[in-house]
Amino acid sequence: MKTAVRVADRFGVMEAARVIRNGGLAAFPTETVYGLGASALNETAVENIYAVKGRPADNPLILHICDISQFYACTEQTPDYCAALISAFWPGPLTVVALKKSSVPAWGTAGLHTIAIRMPSNQTARLLIEYAQTPVYAPSANVSGKPSSTSAQHVLRDLDGKIDIILDGGSCVHGLESTVLDVSCGLPRILRPGFITAEMVCAETGLYPELESLRGKPKSPGMKYAHYAPKAELTVINGAPERAAALINERAGDEDKYIGILATSQTINMYDKSKYLVLNAGDRSRPELIGASLFAALRSFDDKGVDIIYAEGIADSGVGAAVMNRLTKASGGRVVDV
Ligand code: TXA
Ligand code: MG
Repeated sequence: MKTAVRVADRFGVMEAARVIRNGGLAAFPTETVYGLGASALNETAVENIYAVKGRPADNPLILHICDISQFYACTEQTPDYCAALISAFWPGPLTVVALKKSSVPAWGTAGLHTIAIRMPSNQTARLLIEYAQTPVYAPSANVSGKPSSTSAQHVLRDLDGKIDIILDGGSCVHGLESTVLDVSCGLPRILRPGFITAEMVCAETGLYPELESLRGKPKSPGMKYAHYAPKAELTVINGAPERAAALINERAGDEDKYIGILATSQTINMYDKSKYLVLNAGDRSRPELIGASLFAALRSFDDKGVDIIYAEGIADSGVGAAVMNRLTKASGGRVVDV
């Protein structure tokens, strides 16, 4: 199959919408990461999403909608605070997991009694859903297990020849996937941290959501798999900037492999750029900016053939919790505290 790449203007969006209506696969930009979309009404198309990504069949997808009525058409017994969440954060980077109406088909939801739904704020994404005249199931547009795609080039790299069309809408503003918030058990619970933080949810609902820990049995099926992992072995070094950099230098000096270092603005000058591939993740006090470029940085270590990556950890609060969640998962749990 030849994968078409189109600018995300009106014509491109109309073409991609036609692809989706006809049962094909279209990658599209959202404010978080690129999605790989298929018609929610087409079982074969949804199965094809799993096939091209190599995604485990028990990992459910997020339904992307362009109208709030579509949320209530698919869910039942949603708690009252749900309306406050929706009016505060939709359209935007929040996915709500709620009890699914039995009339909603089982494909896409991996046979669960819940369904994950979000309304993206990205204009292209919403227009695409509107023109497709159907809600769209869309996981992140990457090969399963790899870092998510935050540009059309990343999508092409992973899925060229396997999908019908890619809408190029430039780089994603947030760069990290949506916050997944489960409301199906009454109290809200964050299954995947993102740009919408626990504090923000609490401010709207008066309820401080529990945060699913990276250890223990995952409630979100997707969280049990290896994720966001570059080819190189990644270790996260947590601690004050100077101490983290000192430990990374010590460890990197021991190796005879090609070393990549994900530094921060606070430490970038503490590394020898003639010996290592050093990338600046950004200012530690601006986790949202670090999040925006994280996946692109992990992908560029791979592109340059790095064997081992050391990444500095940042404060695990606010959007920093989302950054640390992705880094910890990318490391497969190799986290060192200094
Ligand atoms: O920002 C995003 O959410 C992006 C863009 C494209 O919208 N999408 C995305 O989809 O990240 P994906 O498939 O890569 O991640 C969806 C996550 C997985 O961890 C999955 O297990 C979880 O949502 N999920 C989906 N349905 C669920 C459900 N019913 N209960 C619990 N977790 C669910
Ligand atoms: Mg994903």
